[in-house]
Amino acid sequence: MNQGVLTAAYLLAALLFILSLAGLSKQESAKRGNLFGVLGMAIALVATLMRPEVTAVWVILGAMAIGALIGVRVALKVEMTEMPELVAILHSFVGLAAVLVGFNSYLDHPPLTGVVLNIHLTEIFLGVFIGAVTFTGSVVAFGKLRGTFSSKALMLPHRHKLNLLAGIVSFVLMVYFVNQGGEMASLLVMTVIALLFGWHLVASIGGADMPVVISMLNSYSGWAAAAAGFMLANDLLIITGALVGSSGAILSYIMCKAMNRSFISVIAGGFGNDAVDMGDGEEYGDPVEISAEGVAEMLLGSKSVVITPGYGMAVAQAQHPVFEITQKLRAQGINVRFGIHPVAGRLPGHMNVLLAEAKVPYDIVLGMEEINDDFPDTDTVLVIGANDTVNPAAAENPSSPLAGMPVLEVWKARNVVVFKRSMASGYAGVQNPLFFKENTSMLFGDAKASVDAILKAL
Ligand code: TAP
Repeated sequence: MNQGVLTAAYLLAALLFILSLAGLSKQESAKRGNLFGVLGMAIALVATLMRPEVTAVWVILGAMAIGALIGVRVALKVEMTEMPELVAILHSFVGLAAVLVGFNSYLDHPPLTGVVLNIHLTEIFLGVFIGAVTFTGSVVAFGKLRGTFSSKALMLPHRHKLNLLAGIVSFVLMVYFVNQGGEMASLLVMTVIALLFGWHLVASIGGADMPVVISMLNSYSGWAAAAAGFMLANDLLIITGALVGSSGAILSYIMCKAMNRSFISVIAGGFGNDAVDMGDGEEYGDPVEISAEGVAEMLLGSKSVVITPGYGMAVAQAQHPVFEITQKLRAQGINVRFGIHPVAGRLPGHMNVLLAEAKVPYDIVLGMEEINDDFPDTDTVLVIGANDTVNPAAAENPSSPLAGMPVLEVWKARNVVVFKRSMASGYAGVQNPLFFKENTSMLFGDAKASVDAILKAL
């Protein structure tokens, strides 16, 4: 393929990636956005394979076929609730790829001298550093989301100083590496430091703050890809990496704002974990139980109902019967709306995806800020598998790990029904005083079975 056609193909692919991101920013256009992304990637792959320096095309095609088979199998098998883990492990692959590309560029690069060599060595060093941090950080995020590692923060003594030290030592090693014209030992030592640093960065973040880490790792994986693009002198990889890196950074910023956390502290790792009151020591009394028939009666006596779903609705796959209840109540003139917390579930936009899948109209799905003022005028709130995102301790207990995080203020409604299977705490491991409030009733059981039973009673 001649250079002109290659450049045109790369430009087209870059344009399609931008259109893809634009499409993904709205539910209505998300599917189209995905298609643009797939098309852009197909063009990028074909164009790259046709570059003159690519020789072992059959080997690459063979590897791609094996990769595609594994990818399709995993994608078909993965449950919606396992998507965040899948995303985390895919980020780790991007990090690992950047490390391998870095070492490859180090061992096998054209003869360079002077400034050009220095630039190349800096690219290698930074690429390996970002890649290694992304790799172990994503592996820890995967383990935390899967429950293999505890979701609690690892609180090593002097953890902030350790992070700072890792940064400073890595910087000094980079200067040495470049000055020595590419000294192997400094690259290897930095790689070990970066692997430990990535591990510690994510291990020291706990409680409810994981969403920010996930979007931050998304951003890091983009920068790792961009670094690999510099090392391979591939413009499209640089553009794509920068798009992923910057959109991930914007998402992290939005998440931080939504959770009232400091962006800078997140990047530095291990923020907001000094508060340790899990609320377990408090005497709350006994929760009040309610039956499905009781909830049906309560709903029929209501004028306005708000449903706040959480991770449990995703686990139970209760979105379809939840929408059926919504339709039944709306047919009776009852105003039913959904209140979505920005970090409900385990993935940005998790609840929106589930509700869209059940065909809930977008105009009755409101964000936390839009619905919070309406709770005092709401007759009944159905909290379906949500816990941390409706925990009043976030607003009322400054020592709670959730302190400062805005939550759905469901307790201000006349009646609250909480759907869950037990009195277990949510992702952050914090006790929820909502369950013991006077206006709260608990409907125990799998959320889908409970919603089906209410539907029957209605
Ligand atoms: P969580 O606090 O995770 O609580 C979910 C609740 O659902 C649990 O208390 C559980 O109680 C219940 N549940 C689980 N399976 C159920 C089933 N089959 N039927 C009925 N109930 C079930 O939920 P949330 O309010 O959505 O909050 C999300 C949390 O995850 C936040 O802390 C957030 O920071 C964190 N997080 C979010 C993300 C993103 S990006 N959204 C990523 C990582 C972490 P039982 O076991 O008693 O049933």
